[in-house]
Order: sequence, then structure tokens, then C-alpha cells
Amino acid sequence: MTKYTEPKYKTLHEAEANELEILKEKVAASIWKPAFHIHPEHGLLNDPNGLAYFNGTYHVFYQWFPFGSYHGMKHWAHVKSDNLVEWEQQPTALVPIEDYESHGAYSGASIEVDGKLYLYYTGNIKYSAEERSANQCLAIMEKDGQVRKYDHNPIIEGVPAGYTGHVRDPKVFKKGNIYYMMLGAQREDKTGAIIVYESKDALDWSFKGELRLDLDLPESCYMLECPDYFKINGQDVLVVSPQGLEAKHHDYQNLYNVIYALGKLDIENLTFDVTDYQELDKGFDFYAPQTFEGKSHERLMFGWAGMAEVEYPTDKEDWAHCLTLPRKLDIVNGLLVQKPATELKQLRSKSHSGSLTLDKDSTNLHSGFRSFELEASIESHGADSFGLELFSSETEGLVLAFDRSNQTVTLNRENFHSSFDKQNGLVRSAELSIGDSVKLQVFCDRSIAEIFINDGEVVFTTRVFPIEQSTGVKLFTDKELTCSYAIHQMKSTN
Ligand code: FRU
Repeated sequence: MTKYTEPKYKTLHEAEANELEILKEKVAASIWKPAFHIHPEHGLLNDPNGLAYFNGTYHVFYQWFPFGSYHGMKHWAHVKSDNLVEWEQQPTALVPIEDYESHGAYSGASIEVDGKLYLYYTGNIKYSAEERSANQCLAIMEKDGQVRKYDHNPIIEGVPAGYTGHVRDPKVFKKGNIYYMMLGAQREDKTGAIIVYESKDALDWSFKGELRLDLDLPESCYMLECPDYFKINGQDVLVVSPQGLEAKHHDYQNLYNVIYALGKLDIENLTFDVTDYQELDKGFDFYAPQTFEGKSHERLMFGWAGMAEVEYPTDKEDWAHCLTLPRKLDIVNGLLVQKPATELKQLRSKSHSGSLTLDKDSTNLHSGFRSFELEASIESHGADSFGLELFSSETEGLVLAFDRSNQTVTLNRENFHSSFDKQNGLVRSAELSIGDSVKLQVFCDRSIAEIFINDGEVVFTTRVFPIEQSTGVKLFTDKELTCSYAIHQMKSTN
């Protein structure tokens, strides 16, 4: 059979002379390139892949299409770090040149096996624009950082009976002496599922069955992408990215969403009894997160700060998206909370701090930093409606507003010259129990804001594309409040 081709299925090996240099130069001139978030030098980034703390070094791989801001032939880009915050570009880890990955090296995760890092991924196969299949593949990273595809790929050829060609995103973990692989899948009736394979040696795999996950997802859910499973303090957690959910009150407002479920996994019997599940991040741009164990055995997570099928202002600059900052996950009062990794403190440089009382007014706390961390404690006394405007200037601003009477927090990104994605709405909200004080930790980095409220109880990830002059951090309130704050300029890591 002749191979299905389209211009976008082009690998790095087929780059024309100077093509990549020209792209790199064009992107380098962008005012929106983050200073301390992992992002592509050119082209499109999506899911974080293969995350690991391996042999004393952090490794992050990510989905990468090198030639433009659209979803084409996916490679695995690779960066590494000694400290989790300063990243060094490595040679591209996976360039899809083999028949078993003919239309891209899709997402996957890693696990250490006998002193080597096993990187599992999906070989995407397209027969036509609509028809596809998938192979599951393995690459092995040695301690010296060399990545080599396994000689006997694919380790799983094709998809099991009962499922469409949408089977992908392997996550492997070990229980007792057995390795298990969870995969996102689509049943033949076009509903989403998680399927499981097992193996004694992490190389030879056999199909075990479908995970019974009592999430009561609607029938409109047509695919579950990027399943992740881990334990925190003995508690089982499953994170997954469902497609096709309908918006419900403040939940699932984005085109695609991410949920976490707490409960009990019985992998031998293929059940996950869910005690509770929630949307993971309430912002506009968050998808396909992946977790791993850090240096101190803590659970760390990176997400893709982006959304498929949305046009972003940087598309015309030939690059798109970045990863979130690393976040530490914990379970507090039955909720999965996310806090920025403490390692990020190493990036603080100049700081400005203060404390003030404000009554029915607004004031600018600081201007001039385009990449900074803000820590703020607000004692709201009787204030009913108060908040912050980030990336603020006379003409623009990202508004984070707390509403005590409705016990909600709202993020509004409509007020930008380069406003985008109006069709999916420009406001996101979350329920929050607003008492007398609110604690905030916010990271702004040229075109991204990550907002952690009350120690990570509610988190918003959002992209915005301000003009260079919009660097203000404004505080506003309808009644008296006091606020103490510190703003740290963040070092550029690239
Ligand atoms: C999620 C996803 C994965 C797939 C990858 C392809 O964003 O669609 O399911 O492996 O992206 O880039």
C-alpha cells in the first residue's frame, strides 16, 4: 500500500537548508516568548512526555512539530535540568522515520527499568485523512542520555478488537512483579475508555482488558487521552483528559478538559472505584498533564498550557504554546491541590514588597516586570468584590475577581488588543469558599499566567498576549481590605 502523505507529515530530516535557522530567528523576535517556561524554539509544542527524574537529572520531553504552529508530524523534543527550573536543550529524542510510527511519535510516559529509562510512546499511523491505527513503541535512554529506539518495535502492533484506531498515550507502572500499561482509547461505539496491557519484563505485552472506571461520563465523551495513574500518601489518583464533555456550570468550559479522580485501583481486576472527581485546572489553556516522581519522591506535574483547535496570536510567528511550570501535587481535605514547585524560588531576582489598606478603590502595586512571581495575602474584611488586574495598563488587563456573595472567583481575559478564541468564551470561574483572607501565588511570564489560590485549592492556567507596556499589577476592591505582597522579577532561563 502506498503511504498516505500530506505536506505536514515532514520530519526534521527533511528540513530544507536554513529552514530551521530562519524559523528560529523569526521566533526569537517574538515579544511573547516566555522567559522561564519550557517552550519551543520554533514550531508547535503540545503534551509533556516521558517525564522523569533519572540518574540525578530531570528530563522533560514534549510533543513537537518543528515547522510551524499547526499539528503536523510529531517528534519528541527533549530538555534536561539539574534543578527543575533551568533547562538545557538536548538533541531531538524521537524523529519518526520508521514505518511503525509513520505519522508521528505521539505521547507517552517513562519508567526506569534496570537502570535505564524506558520511554513508551505511540506510533501514529494514518491510512487517509480519516482512517488511522496506532502502534505502541519503546525507546530506551541510557544513563549517558543517548536515546535509542528498541530494535523489536512495535511492542504492541495495532489496536485490540472492539476499539477504533484511537488508542494512544501509554502510561506504564509496576505493581508487584508485573508491569501495567494504561492507554487512552475509543470504543467502536465512539465512546472513550482506558484499556490495560500487562507484561512481566516491560517488553512483551499482552492485552488484559478495559478498566472499569465508574466516572459516569456522558455518552458524548468520545475519547480519553493521556491517562496517568499514581499514588499520593497511599491514595490512588487517576488523571485523564476526556474529549467531548459538555460544559456544566463552571466546569468543562474548554473544548477539551482534564479531570482527576480519587479512589481505589484494583488493577488485577481492572476496576477503579471513584470516590470523587473534579476538573483539575479552571483556566483556559490546560491539557494533557503528566506526573512523575521528583528528587524527594514528591509527585510533580507539568501540563500543556494550550488547547487544540484554538488559534493563538503567535500562530503567525510560527510557534505555539509552552508547558506549565512544574507543580507539586498533594491531597488536602479530600482535594488534589497543586502548588508551584519550591525550586522555582531559585529564579527570583529583584523583589519589591509592601503592605497597604485600600478602600473602595484601585491601586497599582507594581509595574515594569514582564516575568515575575507575585505572592499576596488579602484580608478582605467586609469587601464583597475585589481582586487583581495582571498584565495591566491603561488599555488592557487580565482580571481576577473574587465575589464573596457568590463564593466564586472569575478570570476574564477579554480585555486585550490581541484577544483571541472568543468563540469558546473569555471568562472562566470556579467556586471558592471566600472567608476573611485569600492567599495568592501568581506567575506571569510574558504571555502566560498561572494563578494558585489558597495554596493550590483553585488553579487557573491562561495564556494572554499583552502589548509590551502592559506590566502593571493592580489591586481593586469595593470596600476596605488590606493586602501584603511581594513581587519577584524572575530570571530568564533561555
Ligand atoms: C493530546 C494528544 C494525545 C496524542 C498527542 C499527539 O493532546 O492528542 O492524545 O498522543 O496529543 O500530539
